[in-house]
Amino acid sequence: MNSLFVLFAAVIPGAAAERWPLRAILARAVASPVRGGQLARGGFCYYRADMQSLTNKRILVGVTGSIAAYKAAELIRGLRDAGAEVRVAMTRGASEFITPMTLQALSGHPVHQKLLDTQAEAGMSHIELSRWADCVLVAPASADFIARLAQGRADDLLSAVCLARDVPLALAPAMNRQMWADAATEKNVRTLQQRGVLMFGPAAGEQACGEVGPGRMEEPAELMRRVAEVFETGLLAGKTVLITAGPTREAVDPVRYIGNRSSGKMGYALCAAAVEAGARVILVSGPSTLATPERVERIDVESAEQMLAAVLEHMDGVDIFIGAAAVADYRPRQSERHKIKKDQAHLTLELERTPDILATVKSRRPRVFCVGFAAETANLDAHARRKLEDKGIDMVAANWVGPAAPDTGGGFDSDTNALRLYWADGELDLPVASKDRLARQLVASIAQRYERRPPGRRQHHNIVELRGGTPRKT
Ligand SMILES: Cc1cc2nc3c(=O)[nH]c(=O)nc-3n(C[C@H](O)[C@H](O)[C@H](O)COP(=O)(O)O)c2cc1C
Repeated sequence: MNSLFVLFAAVIPGAAAERWPLRAILARAVASPVRGGQLARGGFCYYRADMQSLTNKRILVGVTGSIAAYKAAELIRGLRDAGAEVRVAMTRGASEFITPMTLQALSGHPVHQKLLDTQAEAGMSHIELSRWADCVLVAPASADFIARLAQGRADDLLSAVCLARDVPLALAPAMNRQMWADAATEKNVRTLQQRGVLMFGPAAGEQACGEVGPGRMEEPAELMRRVAEVFETGLLAGKTVLITAGPTREAVDPVRYIGNRSSGKMGYALCAAAVEAGARVILVSGPSTLATPERVERIDVESAEQMLAAVLEHMDGVDIFIGAAAVADYRPRQSERHKIKKDQAHLTLELERTPDILATVKSRRPRVFCVGFAAETANLDAHARRKLEDKGIDMVAANWVGPAAPDTGGGFDSDTNALRLYWADGELDLPVASKDRLARQLVASIAQRYERRPPGRRQHHNIVELRGGTPRKT
């Protein structure tokens, strides 16, 4: 299907080619399955095109007692090189094969070893670690550890973390081929897979014991590629998402403006999450010092007026609009041409309303799925529901800000947040988490609501589909 589509898009420019740019498809085809984008860095190989989704991800690497434990060192270094934050938990067996000191130096953090650890904050490092991680990767995973997990045991730190987590868990088995082929291991692996645990490998080949067969741990570069894939959900594949982020600045005079405390972190995290979900992402950003996430097209603006103009200019082909920017509600009625001098005891600024970007987008493009943000200091439910109805939008992501949000540092410019999502006939709480994690959860909810939107709200792009090899316009 993909190769047919590529050929077709090559000869028919226009809507289809615009939504699935040929260059992007070819770049992916070259970079992904055959791993053509291999790079060497400091003697360590990884694949640039596949690794972007590891940036800022929190990976807990578990290490167990296998001869392959030395490869965990290369894995940890590679994950950090790719931009991930790494913590390590190792079993007592693992520390017979590689020292915690080595893994501490490579991860940049103390290695977690003890379940009953009085040093851990609140004495519960298994819960703290499992809440911290975006993904747990146990590499190498010994036969014994796999058996313990299959039984649901929690008698050491790493197995307790695995049991307490609510994020993806992947195992990279490493053992003698006979141990791997044993019916007990086979059954344990099947049990874990049925519970959603991912198995990365094992690979086949020469083993440390001198035998040849399946049971070797996958190479670190391959494990990294597989972890990166965990975050590439494909939930918005083929969709175009336009996101606004950051504050706006409304000029008072040439040197002063009315602004707000927004940093843009949530909107930028949403951009990265939407890219991971397979979308083409356009970011219209107010002033922000944040780096543009990979593969995002960014347009910089200052004022609410400019933001609206940039949004409308880029709306063609957009399926989902997310208004995450903290747009000023009011601006000075008049921006002075020259700097205002301090020669008056009192100064009154007359303010006027700025344009309502969300409402304008929804009224001009009713079929675009629109998501708004609401930052409130009181009556969160009532304000969020009113916003949903007044603007006729599809979803509101609301959060407490200021003194009402002590758990999340006031909401603005903090790395954590908590959201409550509202749509016409439902709502969902996303509890306190990093903005990166929240963004992924929000994107997943948006993708789900987008798929279930009423037929009257469906977009009718002039997309060319291939059915049974015949081009068809929808
Ligand atoms: C030299 C040596 C190498 C070992 N290599 C492996 C191995 O590759 N895979 C495995 O499953 N067990 C291996 N074992 C056995 C495990 O270390 C043993 O089952 C241990 O209890 C695992 O504990 P853990 O999973 O808590 O780390 C090896 C043992 C020794 C002495």
